[in-house]
Amino acid sequence: MFATHFPLDGQGEGPQHDLFESIATDIQGRGYSVKPNGLPMALAEALWGHLQSMSAQQFDRAGIGRDDAYALNSFVRTDEICWITGESRAGQQWLNWMAELQHYLNRRLLLGLFSFESHFAHYAPGDFYKRHLDAFKGGANRILSVVVYLNPGWQPVDGGELVIYTDEVDQDSIRVTPAFGTLVVFLSEDFPHEVLPAQRDRYSIAGWFRLNTSTSDRVDPPR
Ligand code: OGA
Ligand code: MN
Repeated sequence: MFATHFPLDGQGEGPQHDLFESIATDIQGRGYSVKPNGLPMALAEALWGHLQSMSAQQFDRAGIGRDDAYALNSFVRTDEICWITGESRAGQQWLNWMAELQHYLNRRLLLGLFSFESHFAHYAPGDFYKRHLDAFKGGANRILSVVVYLNPGWQPVDGGELVIYTDEVDQDSIRVTPAFGTLVVFLSEDFPHEVLPAQRDRYSIAGWFRLNTSTSDRVDPPR
């Protein structure tokens, strides 16, 4: 039914090269990139198939903050998440693809991206994630945010847009429809963003490339 083989092109050459290069150019020029159908179709279908095989119990209420500061806060976000560990074949293919993007952007932009963490997110009708930043300046953790959408047949009336504020005072913003296969990449410290409520179930993967903030006496796990 779904493709079981996802072709990898290890050097960022071939079919992925133009996409990765275009993302790099966008990041360099304005700090964010939106690519409709950016997620390779075979990978998108594998991830969608995997999502459909998952049970509701595999999703947990999303929190905000890390470690000790972690808290559930229904005023900020109401979605449910499931971290992608690479146990499923689709999850492994996703992580492999992100590793290629990491490799490409490190060579091209010298970003020093070291690790990657990501989760599926499910927003039930009415769920939202209020305006937030994925990283705080000087926090030296999340550098680059990635979001992809897995919503076949999404219509504008379904809502659920990702709003990215593109200036300092929230006057200017772009709205991204969470259409199947759309890929969004942006600098984590520079772009406040929010998820508007949707009329139907909304599925995305959100991921973050991080710097290596380990020291000799403290190993910094990906999450
Ligand atoms: C997040 C996030 C955006 C989206 O999980 O931090 O901003 O469109 N997600 O799902
Ligand atoms: Mn976010």
